[in-house]
Amino acid sequence: MRSGLLLRMRVLITGGTGLIGRHAARALAARGHAVRVLSRRAAPHVSLLRDAPVAYHQGDVRLPDSLPAAFEGCDAVVLSHQFQNFPVENPRRAETFDAVDRLGTLHCVRAAQAAGVRRLVYVSGIALNNPNPPHPGIRAKLSAEQAVLESGIPSVALRVNVVYASDDKYFSRLARAARWSPLLPILGRGQTRCAPVHVDDVARAIALAVERPEVTGLVNVCGPDEVTWRAFMLAVAQAAAPRRRWIVLPIPQPLLMLAGAIGERLPTPLFSRDAVTFITQFDQSCRTGRGCEEAFGFRPQPLAVGLRAAFQRQSPGSAST
Ligand SMILES: NC(=O)c1ccc[n+]([C@@H]2O[C@H](COP(=O)([O-])OP(=O)(O)OC[C@H]3O[C@@H](n4cnc5c(N)ncnc54)[C@H](OP(=O)(O)O)[C@@H]3O)[C@@H](O)[C@H]2O)c1
Repeated sequence: MRSGLLLRMRVLITGGTGLIGRHAARALAARGHAVRVLSRRAAPHVSLLRDAPVAYHQGDVRLPDSLPAAFEGCDAVVLSHQFQNFPVENPRRAETFDAVDRLGTLHCVRAAQAAGVRRLVYVSGIALNNPNPPHPGIRAKLSAEQAVLESGIPSVALRVNVVYASDDKYFSRLARAARWSPLLPILGRGQTRCAPVHVDDVARAIALAVERPEVTGLVNVCGPDEVTWRAFMLAVAQAAAPRRRWIVLPIPQPLLMLAGAIGERLPTPLFSRDAVTFITQFDQSCRTGRGCEEAFGFRPQPLAVGLRAAFQRQSPGSAST
């Protein structure tokens, strides 16, 4: 039950124009909260938020001086930023795990402390459940998580699984392509496991996390069905075009690494070896830790139901801004 104190909260969302952030912004606004979105741009530029009662604050998590005005007067802050073109880093432009995910989050934690914020929600990733993280991105995000959880502000880190939505950048494109292409390319062998979750369930978990300061520490946000990447890709395609069949085309790891080695040398990197490792190597199952049911009392929707909702009647051109 929502406490009287928390009935209408002032909530800032960093990354509020991103996939998860914009759905969380709408969910929080629909629940009666006053929502602010931090963006590097000043004006609303995301269609999902255009008709939502959401205020914009211009700021960049890499620039600490740009943050206080946005944090001032907030009861709660949801941290859902991630560097542009994730997971392909661009060190020349400081678009990296370290600059945005780790250091940017640290700047936000300090701004939240200075502004007297009473609740922090960090949108993290399920890959952090891997016990021995050799990847710099996972190390950076672990460090960000730690800064949030040790901030002295009641905090929760939501370790989110792979997210799908009708307006996501990747799976919605796959769904559209599956309607005409006979081929279904898969990065690597597609044998790593994941428990994909619909963006509405992630937004719901974020809204409940904002409203329930008694829930602290780590919570997994996963769908109830654990599958291989290959099975997930096929399920997305089948939801989009139920009567079609495809030739599955696994792109071998060495070829991906070669593409990564070339892509990371371009003036604006299009691909990188680190990105290949991040995408293909980490188990994304939810076998350890507590989930949404235990922490927030709800069960995310089954994969088949969520995929139908996201992709069955998707109209062309609805991919993310
Ligand atoms: N999507 C997934 O499947 C998934 C799964 C697990 C975990 N996660 C985690 O969830 C979080 C959000 O992911 P997402 O997929 O929603 O991200 P996204 O769609 O790529 O959006 C990224 C957001 O970060 C903002 N941003 C980028 N650089 C910034 C900067 N320097 N300062 C301030 N804001 C900045 C962007 O805002 P502007 O461009 O408007 O400035 C945008 O709103 C990330 O931590 C990610 O690791 C995502």
